[in-house]
Amino acid sequence: EKAGYKHFMLKEINEQSRAVRDTTLGRVSFDTGQVFLDNLDLTPDDIRQASQITIAACGTSWHAGLAGKFMIERLARLPVDVDYASEYRYRDPIADPHAIGLLITQSGETADTIAAQTELIAKGSKTLAICNVVGAAITRRASGTITTNAGPEIGVASTKAFTSQLTALFLLALHLAQVRGTITPEQSLHLATELSRLPGKLESMLSLKSSTITGMSEGVAGPSPLPPPDNTLPPLFVERRKRPRISLDEHCQHLAKLFHNANDFLFLGRGIHYPIALEGALKLKEISYIHAEGYPAGEMKHGPNALIDESLPVVCIATKDPNDPASVLKYEKTLSNIQEVTARSGRVIAIAIQGDHEIQNLVEHTIYIPQAPELLLPILEVVPLQLLAYHIAVRRGCDVDQPRNLAKSVTVE
Ligand code: F6R
Repeated sequence: EKAGYKHFMLKEINEQSRAVRDTTLGRVSFDTGQVFLDNLDLTPDDIRQASQITIAACGTSWHAGLAGKFMIERLARLPVDVDYASEYRYRDPIADPHAIGLLITQSGETADTIAAQTELIAKGSKTLAICNVVGAAITRRASGTITTNAGPEIGVASTKAFTSQLTALFLLALHLAQVRGTITPEQSLHLATELSRLPGKLESMLSLKSSTITGMSEGVAGPSPLPPPDNTLPPLFVERRKRPRISLDEHCQHLAKLFHNANDFLFLGRGIHYPIALEGALKLKEISYIHAEGYPAGEMKHGPNALIDESLPVVCIATKDPNDPASVLKYEKTLSNIQEVTARSGRVIAIAIQGDHEIQNLVEHTIYIPQAPELLLPILEVVPLQLLAYHIAVRRGCDVDQPRNLAKSVTVE
């Protein structure tokens, strides 16, 4: 039942193209960009009069919620709060009948998320669910559900459920924006078209054949031909090993070989890429037992830079949408943060957009992913992080599908 894969996790990583396609299917008109979410039980007036959205979720689903905040606020101009479900009811939250509660849960049975839903309902909010299991407890109490059609997820570490949650959140953001009139029909069509291209991009990334989309690049640190004028400058990469293009999977295997003995890992990102950094760190922690932290790239100089030394691998999400000025600005700031890391001898693995040659001069390793609009990039950029965690865990001899101390569905608070 693992369909020839060594682990369910690897099988499920490889099912993400289909999972994203199935979550989109039948919900978008690719002629007009219009999104149809039939099971939401929200009238256009409910959507127009909504005061805010409160998202509550746990773990990986909470990371999806953090990314969803960027999607909904940017497209639908509606304020979004994202809470850990396990914290929500302990802070006497402010919610009103115009606030919409949104529970994100793969299983639909997580006790903490059920408790947050109870609190939201008690405060008079309508609750919606994004859930991968039809008929699960949370969906039975929700006014409406967007079912993620990822199919059953067996590996304890969530992979395809996560990318399906991001897809569902994007659909919801687009739908809310269309009803609220905060985006133009042209923008709708453009975003829907880009969404429809994601499964093909995921397929090319996950193809085990050498791919033209994902290539490997390695800057190899060597002695500088000039005396370094100032030890705050990053090391110079004077030589670049030419390698044949290899698949993303092979590239992650290679990086796992280099870094599986690390004691700690850092994952950095800005904006919508920061939740993906958190997710990369969580995947590594839970299946390889390596301590890992996700951090907003811009916060490093406010403390964590003190951790950096030559034994610390730092995975930086440095992607950009060249058509989006805000995204380009963020990318440039991220490059400065990368230089801060390399100047302190941190070993950077960058996740970058295909064709970005600039970044190769700054870092030791670059993993390339295909281009997409800013709000859709997370669905692509999490894939190498999943594969990296997977291959590191396999090298360390860990039980990838059943990590110690964890259960697939957490039904106690
Ligand atoms: C991590 C993981 C967990 C779950 C969390 C919530 O890979 O799977 O962090 O995301 O326990 O579970 P659900 O989504 O079922 O509510």
